[in-house]
Amino acid sequence: MCGIVGYIGYRDAYPIVIKGLHRLEYRGYDSSGVALIDKDLKVYKKAGKVADLEKFAEGLNTKGTIGMGHTRWATHGAPSDRNSHPHSSGNRKLTIIHNGIIENYATIKEALLAKGHIFLSDTDTEVLVHLIEDIQQETRLDLREAVRVALNKVIGAYAIVIMCADDHDQLIAARKGSPMVIGVGKGEYFVASDATPIVEFTKNVIYLNDNEIAYIRREDLLIKNIDNTVQTPYIQELDLKLEMLEKGGYEHFMLKEIYEQPRSIRDCMRGRIYPQLGKVQLGGIKEYVEKLKNIDRIIIIACGTSWHAGLVGEYLIEEYARVSVEVEYASEFRYRNPIITEKDLVIAISQSGETADTMAALELAKEKGATIFGICNVVGASIPRITDAGVYTHAGPEIGVASTKAFTAQVTVLTLMAFYIAQQRGTITQSKLVEYLTELNQIPELVERALQSNEHVKEIAAKFKDSTNCLFLGRGNAFPVALEGALKLKEISYIHAEGYPAAEMKHGPIALIDDEMPVVFIATHHSSYEKVISNIQEVKARKGHVIAIVTEGDVDVKAMADYVIEIPQTAEAFVPLLATIPLQLLAYHIAVMRGCNVDQPRNLAKSVTVE
Ligand code: G6P
Repeated sequence: MCGIVGYIGYRDAYPIVIKGLHRLEYRGYDSSGVALIDKDLKVYKKAGKVADLEKFAEGLNTKGTIGMGHTRWATHGAPSDRNSHPHSSGNRKLTIIHNGIIENYATIKEALLAKGHIFLSDTDTEVLVHLIEDIQQETRLDLREAVRVALNKVIGAYAIVIMCADDHDQLIAARKGSPMVIGVGKGEYFVASDATPIVEFTKNVIYLNDNEIAYIRREDLLIKNIDNTVQTPYIQELDLKLEMLEKGGYEHFMLKEIYEQPRSIRDCMRGRIYPQLGKVQLGGIKEYVEKLKNIDRIIIIACGTSWHAGLVGEYLIEEYARVSVEVEYASEFRYRNPIITEKDLVIAISQSGETADTMAALELAKEKGATIFGICNVVGASIPRITDAGVYTHAGPEIGVASTKAFTAQVTVLTLMAFYIAQQRGTITQSKLVEYLTELNQIPELVERALQSNEHVKEIAAKFKDSTNCLFLGRGNAFPVALEGALKLKEISYIHAEGYPAAEMKHGPIALIDDEMPVVFIATHHSSYEKVISNIQEVKARKGHVIAIVTEGDVDVKAMADYVIEIPQTAEAFVPLLATIPLQLLAYHIAVMRGCNVDQPRNLAKSVTVE
């Protein structure tokens, strides 16, 4: 986790670094810090948010045209001033920021302690900067070489930036397993965990590859591999607009992103569906058509919200393409010696494209010879770079830590994939495809209509804002929606919430129901409608409060639920895309009413680049 940013050029570095840290705060917000060189090297760091660091630095000397900053999500060592980055060498000449984990830090630390190194923090990062210093002292190598030698000794993941008090014209950046982008300007360079701190200055970027080290001077950039071979950088143009990174008049990014869904779903389908022709086109995976025709099994791996999207995908792919699908938590999959063969297709779903467990699970699948696909949102991230093929979700940058538009875009891609595979395998008729795709094409407008329930959802939120527990129930492809609704509520409002398949309620959760307990049902007019009605009655009989998501014009559920929220009529296949909307709004309003930090919930980070 953690966000890192650096600048070298002719402008004042501090405002660029601070603004960049604000943009990267979604990656972690336990503490932050900056390093700047004016005449000498200055390091300021503080526990808390970037705003706390800014307050702390008010009135201090923040001059310098070279600088770097870090926003932390604590792994080794509690969030505190002393564990904040940057960390410095014993002689205070070198300073480092780091995203990732140095796994063998304890062994290295022990050896360095024996040599007399004194550590001021509990972090793995401080060990790395001391190791570089130690190599320099022992071997008399210059800093570039010392960094390279040190990186050859560490096991783990890192994106690092190093500055040296004695060299006002050099940033050294390196990556292995954690993201790093270099922005290329005229007489200036930027480095960052993603392109968001860079986009307002330059559109030209280089995505550093694993095991590469960039030696950056104002007028010169040299990239070498960790084995010392010079690399030719590939400069790409960013497809990112500044407005995408701002709140655009909304109180929170999360609300903005909820409201962006008609557009993000539309963007996700653009150029991919031809309703009148009954055709789906997925350019990113078209070279694998033969494989898809003959595939027996698909394994979906993901974490968090992306895992929920995977569960929706399982329903859709099995239903329409008739291929067996397994959905796995990446963190479990990678550690349980799974059976994977060359015949399998493994699909990783990840908004960020950087989640450490998902990456590791994918690497395992690759090793075992499976074909690997990615469904990612962030273009150029690590997962899309290691997969054989994939489909981008094109939801645009998602900044709120709780995922909203990325989820519906993932579900949209999986829906398209299900129909694409079905079309290749001939498991769906052309006329059915025309029918489904015509309806799918309407979804952005229907999402727009679902959003009109906002004020009504807000009123319901006011009734339940003080609840301590909440259940979310659904059947079929609405079960993953229930899981997602529960996750949204717990992660941003800190109310304990669980999602369950509605029929499983009687095997345990029913014991929790009393006159205090809100139970949210997804009770749309589809195949399990009658059965869900029975479950609603079971809750009512135990005095639970029922909030039901129903199809417009519903009569039966309305007669028994305490509150209903209507969503437009659609095919059962597309219910997740609509039913999710009021659940996102419910979580949002409850969290706002409870005074929670909606965009940056406690202990969470958007991109989990550690195990
Ligand atoms: C974190 C985020 C979640 C996200 C999950 C997986 O926990 O807070 O919103 O669903 O990681 O992230 P990914 O980027 O792989 O989708």
